[in-house]
Amino acid sequence: MALALGCGAATAVSPVEPGGEYEQALKLTPNLEKGKNIYMVCTVCHRPEGWGSDDGHYPQIAGQLASVTIKQLADIRRRNRDNPTMFPFTSPRLLGGVQEIADVAAYIERLPMNPDNGVGPGYELAYGEKLYKEECVDCHGARGEGNLADHVPAVQGQHYRYLVRQFEWIRSGKRRNADSKMVKQIQRFTPRDVSVVMDYVSRIKPPAEKLAEHGWTNPDFPKYARQAMPYTPRLQKPVAPQRPPAPAN
Ligand code: HEC
Ligand code: HEC
Repeated sequence: MALALGCGAATAVSPVEPGGEYEQALKLTPNLEKGKNIYMVCTVCHRPEGWGSDDGHYPQIAGQLASVTIKQLADIRRRNRDNPTMFPFTSPRLLGGVQEIADVAAYIERLPMNPDNGVGPGYELAYGEKLYKEECVDCHGARGEGNLADHVPAVQGQHYRYLVRQFEWIRSGKRRNADSKMVKQIQRFTPRDVSVVMDYVSRIKPPAEKLAEHGWTNPDFPKYARQAMPYTPRLQKPVAPQRPPAPAN
């Protein structure tokens, strides 16, 4: 096990820390009401709807498979995926422990998705589709719906620019928690390939039951100050709302 931890990236496929927070959180029964309270912290950047920003600075997380959100949170806080903006908000003090990770992931999974996400320039979509079907479908699914058991992210309807950034970071190794098979497979992609395949992915519509109405606002956060953040939330020094006190069990 010590060996596997030391050189995980070279051998393992999207390594999961044995016995770590990912595995622990998956076994728990989530509490949606508590998940909502925890999510308040996340609204600062991902917005109450979980739709992020069209410019892709903040990803859409609404509707993401719970196992994926759990893995990303666990990876970010054990510094297996760098996310300096969000890192402080994943501390046990603000986020809580494994139960809270399970709770917030379940809440996020049920948020309806953005019907107006950021898409690419729209050139050569047929070629993008061809590339997707040849290179991505086995893992990310026919409609980009991901895979819960293998914690493969749903990518359908994600903001184009976020997809491109992650793709480049995965390919270069900057995103360390990537899937080693995927890293290998995408090495030979040209900039054109990357752009067209992500354009195609950003335009795959999630199924109707996962999509929100245009302009939907999340009624769980009626007091969220939208006027203060007309477009993209400020990147500098976001103000963390106080996490509500945990109800005594
Ligand atoms: C200060 C801003 C900020 C806050 C607060 C924040 N995030 Fe993030 N989050 C980001 C940014 C920026 C990224 C994208 C980082 C990158 O490009 O790799 C991100 C990425 C993520 C991802 C990875 C998405 C993916 O598709 O891989 C998840 C999951 C996530 N955030 C969940 C949360 C949750 C849950 C909370 C609340 C506990 C939260 N975030 C709070 C800024 C924030
Ligand atoms: C061998 C399986 C596999 C193949 C093939 C693969 N991926 Fe992935 N991909 C993954 C896994 C697993 C992750 C998540 C890794 C992690 O962080 O745990 C991922 C992550 C991603 C992400 C980041 C998503 C996010 O929410 O942050 C993007 C974007 C992506 N893949 C796009 C693609 C595209 C486009 C292709 C085809 C060109 C592709 N992948 C091929 C398995 C694969």
